[in-house]
Amino acid sequence: MEEMLVRLRAVEEDALVRLDAAGGVAEIDALEREVLGNASALAEARRGLRGLPDEARREAGRAINEIAGRLGERIASRRAEAAAAEETARLQRERLDLTLPARAPARGAAHLVMQVLEEVTDIFVALGYTVADGPEAETAYYHFDALNTPPTHPARLESDTLYVEHGPDPEGVLLRAQTSPVQVRYMEQHPPPVYLVSPGRVFRRDTLDATHTPVFHQIEGLAVDTDLTFADLKGTLAHFVREFFGPQQKVRFLPHFFPFTEPSAELHTTCFSCGGSGCRVCGGSGWIELLGCGVVDPNVFEAVGYDPTAVSGFAFGVGVDRLAMIRYGVPELRYFFDPDLRVLEQFR
Ligand code: DAH
Repeated sequence: MEEMLVRLRAVEEDALVRLDAAGGVAEIDALEREVLGNASALAEARRGLRGLPDEARREAGRAINEIAGRLGERIASRRAEAAAAEETARLQRERLDLTLPARAPARGAAHLVMQVLEEVTDIFVALGYTVADGPEAETAYYHFDALNTPPTHPARLESDTLYVEHGPDPEGVLLRAQTSPVQVRYMEQHPPPVYLVSPGRVFRRDTLDATHTPVFHQIEGLAVDTDLTFADLKGTLAHFVREFFGPQQKVRFLPHFFPFTEPSAELHTTCFSCGGSGCRVCGGSGWIELLGCGVVDPNVFEAVGYDPTAVSGFAFGVGVDRLAMIRYGVPELRYFFDPDLRVLEQFR
């Protein structure tokens, strides 16, 4: 009996030392099973009490319970400490620093050519013009014939035009080289009056250089009403140039030729860079060519079923990429088609 209690105290001593050294909840749980569980020395001692006389059993029982009580308490408090330490460590590990500034998502922007295209379109929309679209693969009828361009016209040569293999006629379908066919398509569908702009992509058989790309953009304009004259064309286009480049701009019209207009003209504006005195940008002349325009040829009205004696109108076609180059001093057209963000990001 005495001997047993001595052994149990030794077990208690040993358990207390190991408890202090235990690193975590799992280790403490294992130790608890070892010293208080069914196979422990304490449980075995309890089982041995049965054969003892009453007095001795009571005494030994009390001693065993005291040891078990002390161990139980100590285990519970060490387990609580270990659990708290583990929780603190977990929180530390999973910590999110919400005070760090978030990484801003990269912001996109419309391409400079698209920005200019929209701006020019808006200038005309503010004058009451509507916007219409046309196909990029166009028929020779809409692109040439209905626009008063005879079969012998040099623009129809394969050296200038990109023909598409489609249908029996090798020169029946092409990638449009101008937005002008939209004029015809629109007039076929709508009675006069017409106030129309049509922005879009066009294609030419050009070799890539500083001022030529095989793909570029135009905005077509068409006004048809009962009494429109060349004076209306001049006023409208001068307004456009001053809205786009600034109120100080002068404009001049030089005679030109287009099959679908008569008379036809090229619009020039004072060089925005030197103001007209002559510089590198305008090649010394003080003027910059901006667009083609003219009074709609009666043959075009006839092709769409309008009465050329009852209506009159004017039309124009502007190169959008050129406008962007001129206004922002972009030296090479091909910068617009290079996927180089260092160039494109300058124009947000
Ligand atoms: N389509 C012509 C071109 O690409 C530009 C043009 C000139 C359009 C005169 C017109 C116009 O509507 O009247 O060069």
